[in-house]
Amino acid sequence: MVAVLHLPDTFVLERRSAPDALMEAVVDHWETHLRQRLKQMQPLPLGLATGRTMVPFYAALVRRLQAWSDAERNQLRHGWLSFNLDEYVGLGTRHPASFAAFMREHLGDALGLGPHQLRVPDGAAPNPDLEARCYRDSLLDAGGIGLQLLGLGSNGHVGFNEPPCEADAVCRCVQLCLATQQQNAGAFGGDAQQVPAQAITMGLSEILAAQEVHLIVTGASKATILERVFAAGCDPSLPASWLLRHPCVRLWVDDAALGVGVAAR
Ligand code: GLP
Repeated sequence: MVAVLHLPDTFVLERRSAPDALMEAVVDHWETHLRQRLKQMQPLPLGLATGRTMVPFYAALVRRLQAWSDAERNQLRHGWLSFNLDEYVGLGTRHPASFAAFMREHLGDALGLGPHQLRVPDGAAPNPDLEARCYRDSLLDAGGIGLQLLGLGSNGHVGFNEPPCEADAVCRCVQLCLATQQQNAGAFGGDAQQVPAQAITMGLSEILAAQEVHLIVTGASKATILERVFAAGCDPSLPASWLLRHPCVRLWVDDAALGVGVAAR
């Protein structure tokens, strides 16, 4: 059954049949954006995401950036500032399942980015609520997000904004749903009970304030939630649906996420 998405004019739907072709298309866009940033005096920070969806994206992006000249890559590195969406409470940056480790492995090490450029909330901070407030303050001091990358959780979350979630939720410490712990168990030896119960996440407020949002959704396992999110307007029980209110969203999907090729149920 092919997903039927009800998208407003503020959305651009970018569809490719295969995931590889989709990632190359996203990277085309990001490469252009990153080149434009080199010419700006004080570009706004990038908003970055983790998750399995993003692994092929960062791989394709790193490959592309390796073709840049040394001078361009140095310039990119010097001017880099990004804020990740979220981090598990209780995991330090050296924990292999932390999002800080994910970002170093998939992007930071290849580009030579330090932790002050590739920012991730500190999951090991003694006071997670305070850490969330400080993270938000740092982001606001830097001018807010320019281009925000997002994946889609199996329960409709973005970042770790678990349902129900209102559009004005700010960066904060949240309790994770069982569905999310199960979705992310792979990084914890397949055991959902090992997935931390809490996380620090940017809120819908900071996400919706980004100048431009890129939501990437791939694979047949996301087809049902993708259709639900964009079926019936904004709904706190589907946090990603608040993106319908954003003025500039690019939705990148492969055929599998649209349900193409999946037999009718
Ligand atoms: C995770 C993260 C999100 C991510 C989403 C999708 O729990 N907090 O930022 O985008 O869920 O993850 P995946 O790409 O692994 O399906």
